[in-house]
Amino acid sequence: MAEVAKLIIDGKEYELPVITGSEGEKAIDIGKLRQVTGHITIDPAFMNSGSCYSSIAFIDGEKGILRYRGVPIEELAEHSNFVETAFLLIYGHLPTKQERQKFSTGLTRHSIIHEDMKNFFNGYPSSAHPMAILSAMVGALSAYYPNVTSADVTAEEMDENYVRLLSKVRTIAAASYKKSIGQPILYPRNDLSYCANFLHMMFAVPAEPYVVDEDVVKALNLLLIVHADHEQNCSTSTVRIVGSSRANVYASVSAGICALWGPLHGGANQEVIEMLQKIHDEKIPVSKVVADAKDKNSTFRLMGFGHRVYKNFDPRAKILKASCDKILSKMGIHDPLLDIAKELEEAALKDSYFVERKLYPNVDFYSGILYRAMGVPTNMFTVMFAIGRLPGWIAHYKELRADANAKIERPRQIYTGNTLTHYVPIDKR
Ligand code: SDX
Repeated sequence: MAEVAKLIIDGKEYELPVITGSEGEKAIDIGKLRQVTGHITIDPAFMNSGSCYSSIAFIDGEKGILRYRGVPIEELAEHSNFVETAFLLIYGHLPTKQERQKFSTGLTRHSIIHEDMKNFFNGYPSSAHPMAILSAMVGALSAYYPNVTSADVTAEEMDENYVRLLSKVRTIAAASYKKSIGQPILYPRNDLSYCANFLHMMFAVPAEPYVVDEDVVKALNLLLIVHADHEQNCSTSTVRIVGSSRANVYASVSAGICALWGPLHGGANQEVIEMLQKIHDEKIPVSKVVADAKDKNSTFRLMGFGHRVYKNFDPRAKILKASCDKILSKMGIHDPLLDIAKELEEAALKDSYFVERKLYPNVDFYSGILYRAMGVPTNMFTVMFAIGRLPGWIAHYKELRADANAKIERPRQIYTGNTLTHYVPIDKR
């Protein structure tokens, strides 16, 4: 017997279907609610509303579980690399050797950007935030690959654009960094892996090639893997809502990059390091930081703490925290900000304010420590998040396109403005 929920409005009873997900999650299907009851639901920030059916990532916020296509994030972090994880997210299964070779070859072949695009960088001030450059450049890619805007673009052509985007995002990101420090933009190297190539484009200089440090490459793979997807977060939902208008993949991802930039979302990793640096430089006691974070009269928040879904540890934060110790000691780095971060976590998790609200460190709390250790400047941290999240955005865009029933996403609202008001000529106001 199909499960239903009963709703009583003005004494009349309505039955609404109850949907059960593959992990037992329950939802009330309100698809016909307005049609049968004349009512809509209202749920600002979609705290309790699902926007779609998806088979890409699963999060259990209460248990601190994250799986990509069913594979636990811990196993991917331990055994996989970013390219393989990207394939898993986009195509729904771990690649065979042949599939992975073809995917890697495509990423290598598409790593260079059109020479004309390099001119764009000359128009930006050196102080331009790299997220402003990244969002604009990704949107501009549709000008160079116009088949994405065609209604009869084929699946193969779309696959090629997904690989192009995944590959070129590194080149664009590294170029924005080189531009900001006044160094020449470097071409990618075909002999390097995905992550090593990015590090080469970021840190090599014409007179001194980048010496691949396998510990750094491994750390970068780990960071990108844990950022690769996270169900309907703000930026992924943005990609889907823009894609639902049948906008092309470059335009949709460009919108996602803008959404990610916000300090409550992907911009938090930059805010965390700036917060830890201020604590360090001004020798602010951790007790005062925790007190300020609790103070409702203060706008200060403990950046990198709290999450809309995780009401237990963010499994990604646990993975990154464990990696910080291992990677920094291997690199012979002692970062005082890591000590402060650990002290802050310990103090907050003992404080009833954080415990009652189930505020734990999220993915952004420790990621910046690792980026710093690699030499990535703070204003590039959110760009690193975007590079990591790109396979997830592409996977969701692809999933949306494959849904024959997908409609343009257009929420309703409850109007609270003036009732009927007639125009009054200015001399009578
Ligand atoms: C990401 O959605 C995703 O999956 C995102 C992400 C992904 O992979 O895509 O996981 C990546 O964006 C991680 C989050 C990064 N942002 C931050 O670290 C910024 C600091 N955190 C917060 O601002 C906040 O926790 C959010 C934005 C993450 C979640 O906000 P919610 O779900 O809207 O919760 P809320 O703001 O309503 O907070 C509930 C309570 C409030 O107190 P009360 O009104 O109940 O008294 O908790 C408090 C908040 O004041 N609170 C915090 C806090 N976070 C929440 N208080 C102090 N410091 C914080 N960090």
